[in-house]
Amino acid sequence: MPRLLIPFESVPGETRVSATPETVKKFISLGCKVAVEKGAGTTAGFSDDSFALVGADLVTPGDSGVWKQTEVLLCVQAPEKTLLGKLSSGALVVGLLAPYSNSVLASALEDGKISAIALELLPRISRAQSADALSSQANIAGYKAVLIAAGALDRYFPMLMTAAGTVQPAKVVVLGAGVAGLQAVATARRLGAVVYVSDIRPDVKEQVESLGGRFIDLPDLDEEPAEEGGYAKQVSEAFLAAQRQKLSDQLSEADVAICTAQVPGKKAPRLITDEMLDRMRPGAVVVDLAVAQGGNCSGTKPAQIVNRNNVKLIGAEDLPCSIPNHASSLYARNLFALMQPLINEGRICLDIEDDLISGCLISHEGSIRYPNVLTPGGVDR
Ligand code: NAI
Repeated sequence: MPRLLIPFESVPGETRVSATPETVKKFISLGCKVAVEKGAGTTAGFSDDSFALVGADLVTPGDSGVWKQTEVLLCVQAPEKTLLGKLSSGALVVGLLAPYSNSVLASALEDGKISAIALELLPRISRAQSADALSSQANIAGYKAVLIAAGALDRYFPMLMTAAGTVQPAKVVVLGAGVAGLQAVATARRLGAVVYVSDIRPDVKEQVESLGGRFIDLPDLDEEPAEEGGYAKQVSEAFLAAQRQKLSDQLSEADVAICTAQVPGKKAPRLITDEMLDRMRPGAVVVDLAVAQGGNCSGTKPAQIVNRNNVKLIGAEDLPCSIPNHASSLYARNLFALMQPLINEGRICLDIEDDLISGCLISHEGSIRYPNVLTPGGVDR
């Protein structure tokens, strides 16, 4: 009978939980024994009683005996090294493990001979869609970024015709039209804004337009922006400079910029410079979701609001944690979708030949499979 553990997330500010009563019930029906650390779901709105009611064993956080017996640790973020050290060799850790340049994680996995699946590396193939935690969480970030911008803006979003006259709709520029960006477009449109979008993958133009956004054409350069596995690849500095030129006029008329442009494992592209900020109108708002990767916008700081000549620069981090109930429900379903096919006749069978598993299994029984991902300085598989 596979023993699963749902830990109390120990990283400060983390409000999500990796399982809900719904998914615990499903794991138990597959023959698993599920332990949930007391209080693990509290910040996400799932009480200890709600887990106990579906058959989970409530355990004390960090109990060495429980961790030693655990076969699969389902987490949101990687637990600290001392906790990982409590797992037995051969245990499997599954979560958003922040694998890029993470030598601390690599050594903890090696030392403990632990296997690990980093959901950040889940291949973007169609059968993996239901397990795609990056998407479920990025969707939330895109939605929330627009609400934050609307709350901080000194204007309405929608066009209004009132007895006191007509109010023009807000103009929103979205940089990056991946999962978060497209959700930002949809949310800003629902609030009535006019939305302009820039992305270096020309294919997304159609998706942007289907949501009512207007695509800002790419710079007219010979360089073909590369794409691999659905992700953008880094473009040259010359391309970025030409792109910034295109964006500068749009931004000078914008009320809001939502920055979501990223290249996995690399520094975020710098798309808004100081000179471009100088041209933005006082009262405008920039919400930078790429701030943890260095930011798309000059001057944004993680978890801070910087007032720059009356332009508000909001460094938005950890937005999924701001709506932890839905973020946890969706994340827990992602984990169940990933794990269900691995549970066979009461055993966990990790098929490392399977593309889906192979793509995101960063350690197999302590042997690091993608040293270039985990080692500082290297990010390519
Ligand atoms: P991401 O978070 O890595 O990047 C966000 C966006 O930034 C991407 O659209 C990227 O092209 C864009 N970007 C990079 N450099 C830029 C620049 N200089 N200027 C403007 N934009 C720039 O990407 P995310 O959100 O994780 O998704 C990437 C793609 O994968 C999306 O098209 C999404 O639809 C697709 N996808 C496919 C799935 C599947 O087939 N199973 C599942 C989920 C997403």
